[in-house]
Amino acid sequence: MDALLDFSGQRVIITGAASGFGKLLAEGLAQRGASLVLGDINQQAVDTLAAELRAGGAKVFSQLSNVSVEEDCRRLVDTAVSEFGGLDIAINNAGVAQDFVAFEEIDSVEWNRQWAVNVGGVQQGMRYQITQMKRQGSGHILNIASMAGLGGAPGIAAYAAAKHAVVGLTRSAAMELGPLNIRVNAACPYFTLTPMVAESPSAKVNGVEAMAATLSRGCALKRLGQPQEVANAMILLLSPQNTYMTGQCVAISGGASSL
Ligand SMILES: NC(=O)c1ccc[n+]([C@@H]2O[C@H](COP(=O)([O-])OP(=O)(O)OC[C@H]3O[C@@H](n4cnc5c(N)ncnc54)[C@H](O)[C@@H]3O)[C@@H](O)[C@H]2O)c1
Repeated sequence: MDALLDFSGQRVIITGAASGFGKLLAEGLAQRGASLVLGDINQQAVDTLAAELRAGGAKVFSQLSNVSVEEDCRRLVDTAVSEFGGLDIAINNAGVAQDFVAFEEIDSVEWNRQWAVNVGGVQQGMRYQITQMKRQGSGHILNIASMAGLGGAPGIAAYAAAKHAVVGLTRSAAMELGPLNIRVNAACPYFTLTPMVAESPSAKVNGVEAMAATLSRGCALKRLGQPQEVANAMILLLSPQNTYMTGQCVAISGGASSL
């Protein structure tokens, strides 16, 4: 295997691993030799995925894990340490969408949900991941933010505010932890037809194809990315050979960031 994509010996945590990008990352990293601890609120789905990856020869543990529960964030790190002896890569991927509504219709329930999962889940996870990485003197954290974290996102302002916060956490932690050999980056995808988007209320009302056609107009390639294409870019960022990159919030957007 090309060293750039060889994850042998890499000890990895993925949150929200049962679906979408998290699942594709788990599959892609397991195929390339990583040892994984997978968490999700959908225990059945994450356990099934872990069993499939183990059947393929990978070392994989799964657990019921809600990123908005601090104890669950700690347990993911504890499992990586007790089973694998440490933590090389942490992927804070779990997140929840916001349905498209006018700004003034965003109520405190939606706001608090966005903050608890999309921000609190990343911040709490990072606390325990960083504590372990400081003990080791090394580590890489990849937060899954969004293009909505890099610019305005009409109709999803609470989600955009939350993802901007993830960008702030990423850049701040990178500056603070760089001297300790701990790198922190974020991936910022554009709309992608994972279950989060393809099964959203808007997709149900308007149809997935119509929604994809509308959203495609916003990027240079004039098509939405396949989930696998986006996961591939994340895997490139995670390469154990990609060692001089930190504090970056990288658009994976079909060029939407260039318009
Ligand atoms: N799909 C997109 O268009 C898109 C674009 C930009 C960013 N993102 C981000 O990518 C990440 C993954 O999203 P996806 O598109 O793969 O969605 P998805 O809905 O397919 O997968 C999300 C996973 O997270 C899990 N999850 C939800 N809340 C959780 C919690 N509190 N604790 C632990 N797990 C939880 C879900 O059960 C699910 O398995 C999210 O952070 C999302 O905001 C997605």
